[in-house]
Amino acid sequence: MIMTTFNFDNFYYTHIDIENYDVIIKEIKFHTKTILNEIGKYSGFFKISKKDLTDNCPALLNWFNKNNMILEVAALHLMPAHRSGQLHSDNDGSPEPRLALNLDIENSDLTKTILFKVNNSGNLLSTPGGLPYILYQYSEDTCKKITEYDLSKPVLFDTAKPHLVTNNTNHRRVAISLRFKSDPIHLIIGRP
Ligand SMILES: [Fe+2]
Repeated sequence: MIMTTFNFDNFYYTHIDIENYDVIIKEIKFHTKTILNEIGKYSGFFKISKKDLTDNCPALLNWFNKNNMILEVAALHLMPAHRSGQLHSDNDGSPEPRLALNLDIENSDLTKTILFKVNNSGNLLSTPGGLPYILYQYSEDTCKKITEYDLSKPVLFDTAKPHLVTNNTNHRRVAISLRFKSDPIHLIIGRP
């Protein structure tokens, strides 16, 4: 077996193309509609059943299988209108897996995720669903903006890079975030 190592140092995010994406996103939106109705005005990272997701989204499962991707975590991320999230990274500092595939459910094509290089250590915390994250104190001296993305297209990004979501629109932002047993680096190698 050939082991491929990927250097994450200078990788922040890339937009990717997903085959059959129109069908896949339609399935996901249909599946998450009921969950979103139940969550109501929830704000933050909300873990959902990966089994229910793949059971109800066969085109998504087919794409995972074709690309040797085993789903580990599925979550909805909700940000109310005119709100910015805190600066954080979504892991406990372990080297891999660290990539998330984020897709637009509502309004995330018009809102930004800003990624930073941070020179302070932050605090290791845990989401209500038990996912570790590191919360950073923002200051101009120690936090340098590197880049930003929107979800006008699917994004693979390095969750270990400190980031925050900002929603300056009049509507809530909803994205789905998918993490895998091992990082699907074959989807990013060779991309700009
Ligand atoms: Fe995050």
